[in-house]
Amino acid sequence: MPNMTSNPPPSGRPVMIAARDIVKSFGPHRVLDRVSLTLGQGEVVAVIGPSGSGKSTFLRCLNHLETIDEGSIEVEGEAMVRAVPGGRSQYAGDADVRRLCRKMGMVFQSFNLFPHMTVLQNVIEAPITVKGMARAEIVPKAEELLRKVGLLNKRDNYPGRLSGGQKQRVAIARALAMEPDIMLFDEPTSALDPELTGEVLRTMKQLADESMTMLVVTHEMGFAREVAHRVIFMDEGRVIEEAPSADFFREPRQARSREFLAHML
Ligand SMILES: Nc1ncnc2c1ncn2[C@@H]1O[C@H](COP(=O)(O)OP(=O)(O)OP(=O)(O)O)[C@@H](O)[C@H]1O
Ligand SMILES: [Mg+2]
Repeated sequence: MPNMTSNPPPSGRPVMIAARDIVKSFGPHRVLDRVSLTLGQGEVVAVIGPSGSGKSTFLRCLNHLETIDEGSIEVEGEAMVRAVPGGRSQYAGDADVRRLCRKMGMVFQSFNLFPHMTVLQNVIEAPITVKGMARAEIVPKAEELLRKVGLLNKRDNYPGRLSGGQKQRVAIARALAMEPDIMLFDEPTSALDPELTGEVLRTMKQLADESMTMLVVTHEMGFAREVAHRVIFMDEGRVIEEAPSADFFREPRQARSREFLAHML
């Protein structure tokens, strides 16, 4: 079975995330089997693959929603967790791990907005409580972000009154309010009706056009092809193929990638 344990560094770009040989098991089930990724500044990388292949787990490991067993993760050149030969990987101290995780914003399939807070309150909550920003400082910034995702007119609404696509755009604005250097997306459009996916994908494309560094788990092959610079195809906890997206969609090298694409397109 092919497994790529290292991948080409993106040419000339500062490295934002370097994950090497990540191993993660749940009980006896090895869900990630030596997964590696180098994400360069301003790069958009799409992670694709069948259900259960470990895509979400990989993203969750990157921002410490799961702990890894083996391997290492560096964020902007700093070790969040180091490999220990023959043993479990060793994490940096809690404060350092938290600080590195704050460089990453994450958007989930299920929005996860606070239902009892207005749109504006959702966006300003973490900057105030986590970063200690003053309300007067964050409110204009939050409004600017809401304008950017096309939802300034919804600032005083509760999430229950929004469509799925609107909720997801608020979730994106909320993540951006923390001023992350890197955005991680886990199937941000899978919970949406087809007619609502476009508005979210357009918001993501806009971010990509502004050179945000993005790692995007997605089933949207159009987005992967048109917006992502690189594609990583995972299956059974391994990276089976990694290629510039133009090459990948023109001619996947691995039989399993071809099979997957044939089902998706
Ligand atoms: N907390 C957990 N405990 C036990 N097993 C888990 C846990 N989280 C994930 N798994 C298992 O790990 C494997 C990979 O799951 P993961 O959610 O990463 O896949 P995925 O590629 O994101 O799939 P999908 O496309 O359906 O979202 C699956 O077999 C899943 O059942
Ligand atoms: Mg998933």
